[in-house]
Amino acid sequence: MITENEKLFIEKFKRSDISEWSKIESDPKVRHFVDGKKQTYKQSEEYIKKNILSYDNNGFGRYAVRLKKNKQLIGMCGFLEEDYGIDFGYRYTPSVWRNGIGFDVAKLVINYGIKKLKLYKILALTHEDNHGSIRILEKLDFIKKNKIILHKQNTYIFKLEIKNN
Ligand SMILES: CC(C)(COP(=O)(O)OP(=O)(O)OC[C@H]1O[C@@H](n2cnc3c(N)ncnc32)[C@H](O)[C@@H]1OP(=O)(O)O)[C@@H](O)C(=O)NCCC(=O)NCCS
Repeated sequence: MITENEKLFIEKFKRSDISEWSKIESDPKVRHFVDGKKQTYKQSEEYIKKNILSYDNNGFGRYAVRLKKNKQLIGMCGFLEEDYGIDFGYRYTPSVWRNGIGFDVAKLVINYGIKKLKLYKILALTHEDNHGSIRILEKLDFIKKNKIILHKQNTYIFKLEIKNN
């Protein structure tokens, strides 16, 4: 287990999560602001494998978020090594949106990244119209930096720098 609160477990992805994760990623709403492309089962499988490899190689990855009450996988939150640095990301199945889960998990995982992983510079990219995602980053004290074009969309780069970590 990575971290938890009274309602949720945050843990590493396992191969057995592929079919539940694929259900989430096959919903076009979930990836609307990511790249607009719903994912196939194969792509979801690759994503889980990529994260498992990242846990081994980097000591972190995106983490599975589960409801304690029924163990349902509802989304992910975590870190990935990208060519621009360590990226922070999250996405959830629409049925749980706007209940505070996105922020609560982001805060738990950022604290884990700072305290346990000793991360000191974290980047997050988000579409300029993704107001929920932007709000989460602002509440976590990420600073809005420049705007770039990613997947033909206007995208903000946010940065969190931790001093004395
Ligand atoms: C973006 C996302 C993670 C937000 O998760 P969530 O659980 O709905 O967020 P929360 O309920 O914790 O809300 C966090 C804040 O954002 C606000 N917010 C959430 N969704 C919003 C929306 N669609 N429009 C405006 N504000 C929104 C909330 O009101 C809250 O602000 P407050 O604390 O000032 O009241 C979720 O919508 C999602 O998974 N979207 C699809 C994937 C995605 O876009 N991921 C991010 C890619 S960069």
